[in-house]
Amino acid sequence: MGKILVTGGLGFIGSHTVVELQNEGFDVVIIDDLSNSSIDVLDGITSITKITPIFENFDLKDKPKVQAFFKVHQDIVGVIHFAASKAVGESVEKPLLYYENNINPLIYILQELQKLEASNFIFSSSCTVYGQADDLPITENAPIKKAESPYGNTKQIGEEIIKDTCLVSPNLNAIALRYFNPIGAHESTKIGELPIGVPQNLVPFITQTAIGIREQLSVFGDDYPTPDGTCIRDYIHVVDLAKAHVVALQRLINKTNTLNYETFNVGTGTGSSVLEVIKSFERVSGQKLNYKIANRRAGDIISAYADTTKANDELGWKAELTLDDAMSSAWKWEQQIKKNN
Ligand code: WQD
Repeated sequence: MGKILVTGGLGFIGSHTVVELQNEGFDVVIIDDLSNSSIDVLDGITSITKITPIFENFDLKDKPKVQAFFKVHQDIVGVIHFAASKAVGESVEKPLLYYENNINPLIYILQELQKLEASNFIFSSSCTVYGQADDLPITENAPIKKAESPYGNTKQIGEEIIKDTCLVSPNLNAIALRYFNPIGAHESTKIGELPIGVPQNLVPFITQTAIGIREQLSVFGDDYPTPDGTCIRDYIHVVDLAKAHVVALQRLINKTNTLNYETFNVGTGTGSSVLEVIKSFERVSGQKLNYKIANRRAGDIISAYADTTKANDELGWKAELTLDDAMSSAWKWEQQIKKNN
């Protein structure tokens, strides 16, 4: 099947994708600087697939190291690039850290891929590029609006860099996957989301509240123009999201892509409100969640959920797991973390 480089492969989505790549018979090399992950994740992956990926621990901002890596690994048939900083709020406080960390490594990797006879590149993008879309569900043709944060801007700029490079590099084939809201954990509870510090995202905050790490969940606003007043998002199980990366990579390797730069929305196609997510958690865990209604969070969009027709029809991929599946796996993972500590 061939050797795949997964940057950020010890991260939340990266580790789940490594498992699915190995399940499909690919050999995986991970580059991760461990700035937002743990070396224990390597054991987690191995305990699931019984195959230990090659792991190289260095910072992709170190251009000579990136060049040296590609000199050694000339047999790479594909790259999935997850490594990036992803906290929206932090990006507002530290824009240069985000521009340097999310753009420079992308450029260095593309420069190496341009040298190869043929290369296949999957980019971790985000529905953030759409901002608050005018029409729902959101299709890939929705206008790209001015980013709401430096983080979102790095995803928009990243897509533009890849598109422009593909225009002059017929040997380079790329797909940008625009994730909606990844949640949940692998059914084995060997890998999952490991937020550092106070979780910014809804689902880890819910499970940490339920397990007693956090006092109470604040629901950021219930006065939005939505059926129950809380914001709507498209929550996709991280395993479904991981499988979408494998399918996208196989599309490029098998040369069934129609253009050498394509974008796909990766979501369930269903929107769920914050209160619906809480109800899902209570249903699958059998326990009430301690939450209160608080003020709106600056920068939040009202509603976003994917039109997944393109991924369904052209990738032959569709999310199979439900919100309850995802919440149940997230809860089991949180309980496993407590057991391990
Ligand atoms: C979801 C909803 C909050 C926490 C972000 C990034 C996006 C992607 C996923 C990287 C919102 C509400 C949250 C809480 C709450 N990250 N909420 N109380 O903001 O949709 O997306 O993470 O790619 O790029 O923007 O996800 O989980 O932070 O929030 O009420 O304690 O939950 O207001 O409506 P978001 P989120």
